[in-house]
Amino acid sequence: MAEKTTTVTNLGLSLIKQGKRVIIVDANVTTPNLSLHLGIPFYPVTLHDVLRGDVDATEAIYEHESGLKIIPASLKTDDMAETGIEKLYSVMLNLLGRADIIIIDAAAGLGKEALAAINVADEIIVVTNPELPAVTDALKTVKIAEQFGTPVRGIVINRYRGLKHEMSIENVQHMLEKPIISIIPEDIAIPRSIACKIPVVKNSPSSKSSKEFRRLAAQISGSEFVEKEGNWFERVFGWMV
Ligand SMILES: Nc1ncnc2c1ncn2[C@@H]1O[C@H](COP(=O)(O)OP(=O)(O)OP(=O)(O)O)[C@@H](O)[C@H]1O
Ligand SMILES: [Mg+2]
Repeated sequence: MAEKTTTVTNLGLSLIKQGKRVIIVDANVTTPNLSLHLGIPFYPVTLHDVLRGDVDATEAIYEHESGLKIIPASLKTDDMAETGIEKLYSVMLNLLGRADIIIIDAAAGLGKEALAAINVADEIIVVTNPELPAVTDALKTVKIAEQFGTPVRGIVINRYRGLKHEMSIENVQHMLEKPIISIIPEDIAIPRSIACKIPVVKNSPSSKSSKEFRRLAAQISGSEFVEKEGNWFERVFGWMV
């Protein structure tokens, strides 16, 4: 899994723009980075407080200036010893009815945190790169999800450059035996947007990666994907909603 948080923020914001109520949960409880992507490193109430049973999940929902609703994780090292991640399922239950779609930003690898996220999800999307080590990790995730009985909706291939040394889309699909639902190109607009702490679909709406995130969101929400060309003013100044 790679580039998960980038995918989560941009998919989430695109779904909101398509009319869905979305909450993103940072379930990366030991090395969280969702709030860093969004530029708010400190939140008074976090998922850690919810998992400890100190507050209700609804009290840890924040609305970012981009319109994203998030439940952040704590960046404090003191909070990392006992995370209570096994209670993630009850957090999800408390959020029922609050959103049409809850996106869980999972931890890397297949440690306790990642497994908890795979276990509680209704379905998972595996994000990978077109390189053998990344796809091998993705395969493990797919297998674990199958063991847990969590359906894999599909694979997102991120940082695709179409170079000779990369794995081909066909090979990735063949190895993972799941549908490739999105191919996000390598795009300088993404690190730039992270530096600005604004998801790329808002920061550079006309970038090639933004278009692909919107297409992925339309596929997930079941809406038709129509990109209007826009006049020169909209093309220059972007997404003016
Ligand atoms: N399509 C892309 N083109 C160029 N750079 C990208 C692209 N997608 C992501 N990146 C870069 O990759 C880096 C890692 O992305 P991200 O933080 O989303 O990964 P992650 O899987 O959430 O990592 P972690 O496992 O640490 O949580 C970021 O610095 C981002 O700028
Ligand atoms: Mg991340």
